[in-house]
Amino acid sequence: LSVLVLHGPNLNLLGQREPGIYGSVSLAEINRLLEEEGKKLQAKVSCLQSNHEGVLVDAIHGALGQHEGILINAGAYTHTSVALRDAIAAVNLPTVEVHLSNIYRREEFRHHSYIAPVAIGQISGFGVQSYLLGLQALVDHLRNKT
Ligand code: DQA
Repeated sequence: LSVLVLHGPNLNLLGQREPGIYGSVSLAEINRLLEEEGKKLQAKVSCLQSNHEGVLVDAIHGALGQHEGILINAGAYTHTSVALRDAIAAVNLPTVEVHLSNIYRREEFRHHSYIAPVAIGQISGFGVQSYLLGLQALVDHLRNKT
């Protein structure tokens, strides 16, 4: 079983960026924790971060035939990107949406997600744990399907 983890814009700055909201853990550390969790779940985890919408769209297209599911924190593109949503719908791979912060207790403009309607579920507000819970949920979903 292979899972693609996608991190959207500004998440490369995790650890330094607004630590009061996003915590002090770096993206490299999150990826390491995801790979470790993947080993426990016997799933291969491949991580990619990009600040560019088109690169993320290409990565979603490229997942077809390479990965069974997608775990995505689309960052601000969550609230703006029809293109990412359409890409997920197009490849039709089970996708779990995650956020470090609880987007529903923040500014109004973060309350809407273009990704949510094409995701199997969303986990928001648990910091790094959101990613680990999301990975577990995605792998469970993929295992129960097959
Ligand atoms: C985020 C929430 C988004 O609103 C924000 O733009 C991010 C990070 C999160 O993980 O909490 O960049 O996706």
